Amino acid sequence: MEKRIRLHDKTFRMFIPNADIEKAIDAVAARLNKDYADSTDEDPVVLLCTLNGAIIYAAELLKRIQFPLVLKACKLSSYDGVSSTGVVKTEVPLPEHLEGKRVLIVEDIVDTGNTIVALMDQLKAHNVRDARVCTLLLKKEVYKKDVKLDYVAMEIPNRFIVGFGLDYDELGRNIKDIFVLDE
Ligand code: IMP
Ligand code: MG
Repeated sequence: MEKRIRLHDKTFRMFIPNADIEKAIDAVAARLNKDYADSTDEDPVVLLCTLNGAIIYAAELLKRIQFPLVLKACKLSSYDGVSSTGVVKTEVPLPEHLEGKRVLIVEDIVDTGNTIVALMDQLKAHNVRDARVCTLLLKKEVYKKDVKLDYVAMEIPNRFIVGFGLDYDELGRNIKDIFVLDE
């Protein structure tokens, strides 16, 4: 029998097993280790984890990254239940002293792209030297924005998913595999 879970009022079925997620992360980490090999203790890359969804992805990347980095976090939110509200709220603002830094945004998922566009605008206002996007997942059919997505571990169809950090009304973040809403 296919594995199913229940969160609040909805049922989800197994979609991406943990082993496949980890393999995709291995590949991204290898690219990062090459692309940021020139990061130094004096001028380390800032890894900016977007709370809360990207916590697990950021942790898995940290275990694999070999270059000097500083870990920071911020929190933007736009989702209510299983859909985007279109309005991006800043819940925890960007850290200070980003001016002149190279920033790597670590996101759980890019959907409409509203969040990543808002975050890029904020980083520009902080006069960072370089900002790149590193997202675990991308809903490719939905994303129509111009912001370049530099590192995408996996592309998925336009479905609502949970697990590996992603939530449905705050539940499901601690599930190791990714599950999809059973409609
Ligand atoms: P965007 O602004 O529409 O690109 O949405 C990005 C944010 O919405 C992500 O960082 C997630 O927090 C949330 N999100 C988008 N799609 C999903 C999903 O399928 N499951 C859980 N959260 C999602
Ligand atoms: Mg998020």
